Amino acid sequence: MRGIKMGIAAAALAFAATSAQAADITIKFSHVVAENTPKGKMANKFAELVHERLGDRVEVEVYPNSQLFGDNKVLEAMALGDVQLAAPSLSKFGKYTSKLQVFDLPFLFKDMKAVEKFQQGPKGQELLHSMEDKGFIGLGYLHNGMKQLSASQPLIEPADADGLKFRIMSSDVLAAQFEAVQAVPLKKPFSEVFTLLQTKAIDGQENTWSNIYSKKFFEVQDHITESNHGVLDYLVVTSADFWNGLPDDIRPVIKKSLDEAIAYGNKISMEKAEADKKAIAESGRTTIHELTDEQRAAWVESMKPVWKQFEGDIGKDLIDAAVASNG
Ligand code: LMR
Repeated sequence: MRGIKMGIAAAALAFAATSAQAADITIKFSHVVAENTPKGKMANKFAELVHERLGDRVEVEVYPNSQLFGDNKVLEAMALGDVQLAAPSLSKFGKYTSKLQVFDLPFLFKDMKAVEKFQQGPKGQELLHSMEDKGFIGLGYLHNGMKQLSASQPLIEPADADGLKFRIMSSDVLAAQFEAVQAVPLKKPFSEVFTLLQTKAIDGQENTWSNIYSKKFFEVQDHITESNHGVLDYLVVTSADFWNGLPDDIRPVIKKSLDEAIAYGNKISMEKAEADKKAIAESGRTTIHELTDEQRAAWVESMKPVWKQFEGDIGKDLIDAAVASNG
């Protein structure tokens, strides 16, 4: 009898210990990049801030490197409640809204300052709510940076891309951008890019300095053109069901932590782009090409017709507001 009583007491204690450790709310944050990138660092900072402020009530689990979901699956998983936060590239929402494709238009933004101005302006803020009818809420924009072109051969004139296969993110605008220079675009998940390049199944890709560096694309691409032809930024996104279901005393703390983590990620994104570009240059594994004004103008002229092609889908108001942010 005494033994049984002790057994029950021990079990009760063990149960109390487990329930004290288990968080009331678990937030799974899934992303596809390395931890040493603006998004990786932002996600880890967010987890840290939430832990500091909410202790055991909320636990943030960060899954980097496509460990939990690849970029083509994460939004479906979010709709099913299998993941609560993600920050896919703005190019990966085409299934849910055509408006965000504005960010993919080639040579639209002069630099990251213009991107920031557009995102924080009225049209950019409106876009955060562009998928609410699909059950997704945009909680903020996170920068990575401007994209560069990489390939197995030098890309100096638009004709150099003729017939080459480029991996692209899942965006019709990006497909049109490469078709405009007679290249062949292939929509592939981020997790497959290195192998596709290494095995020469594709010839090139476009990405930011931090992704080219952290995923070692520069080791399997002999040439990178510093084209700055487009932007790769993120939408920090959650599901409306999850967000609206959070207790009222917790939601603002999570939002504040997210805003601070995003501000931190944005701050380091420029420094990372510079540092990673330098590391790539110093590696001696690839050649970085700068374009003359004339060469750049030729790329602009070839790719710019894509704006008109997508004006109907995206909306002229959005394109005009983005152009105005360059001023
Ligand atoms: C890509 O697929 O190239 C990027 O969107 C990856 C990322 O999240 O930066």
